[in-house]
Amino acid sequence: MNIGRGNMTKLINGKEIAQNLRNELKKEINNLKSKFGKVPGLAVVQVGNVAASSVYVKAKTKSAKEVGIEIIDHHLGEEISESDLLRLIMKLNNQENVNGILVQLPLPNHINEQIILDSINPKKDADGFHPLNVGKLSIASHNDENLLIPCTPYGCLIMLKGLGINLSGMNAVVVGRSNIVGKPMAQLLLKESCTVTIAHSKTKNLQEVCKNADIVVAAVGRPEMIKGNWIKKGAIVIDVGINRVEINVNGENKIKLVGDVDFLEAERNALAITPVPGGVGPMTIACLLRNTTIAFKNSQLT
Ligand code: GUN
Repeated sequence: MNIGRGNMTKLINGKEIAQNLRNELKKEINNLKSKFGKVPGLAVVQVGNVAASSVYVKAKTKSAKEVGIEIIDHHLGEEISESDLLRLIMKLNNQENVNGILVQLPLPNHINEQIILDSINPKKDADGFHPLNVGKLSIASHNDENLLIPCTPYGCLIMLKGLGINLSGMNAVVVGRSNIVGKPMAQLLLKESCTVTIAHSKTKNLQEVCKNADIVVAAVGRPEMIKGNWIKKGAIVIDVGINRVEINVNGENKIKLVGDVDFLEAERNALAITPVPGGVGPMTIACLLRNTTIAFKNSQLT
């Protein structure tokens, strides 16, 4: 899983950990198929053509098919009304072969995202964004394997636990307070008995706050904002950012993906760090497949 670095910093290989998770899911789905005569179904709803969303949806669809999940694809025009989208969600909520529903965000401005997320049947909530699942995450017991947990933070947690280090009592700083990453990440770290700080754009002395952390989870969406000298020696760094920046290579403009952490600098101080790409990204997708499989299993129990 970890590749030893010259300076002893471990590169956390999200690509490989995600592949292992997908292999396990593939086996499990095969067993479920034998047992129930059907496979988990995931409805993927995309509205419009935001370039990043198209990339994510394509990657999610491909991975789902590879592990044996059936995809029910709904790519809708940008102009669809909120009520028509709600009608589609209601249909999917009641559709027998749909176990998970994913509505790719962001939605166009004329659609209220929260209204749409609230309308998804919580039992089919493949992203774990429904208020009921958000609430369950904050109160459920630590070992509840049936929970639908937001995919990106859960993927980060798997990588952290994979280091085999006792996380209990560690100072964890989550930079970013989004509903998709920052807040659920903080809940998961709290469950691991970390002392959790949620920092954000209004935090005073962010550098000092980070410097005090044993674990830094960066989810701010700003390219290389977190500098290497903000990272304490021996800290663990999880970089959730996927930022497209333009760089000039031999007079030609190219797009490069960078994280929220200045990787080359931070790597010198960190005990372990995730790269971008190949860190959190593949884990998010693998966890979506995991949630879909959990939702399928839950549906067979009730
Ligand atoms: N947009 C950015 N990240 C996500 C995600 O994890 N799920 C969904 N549905 N939309 C997103």
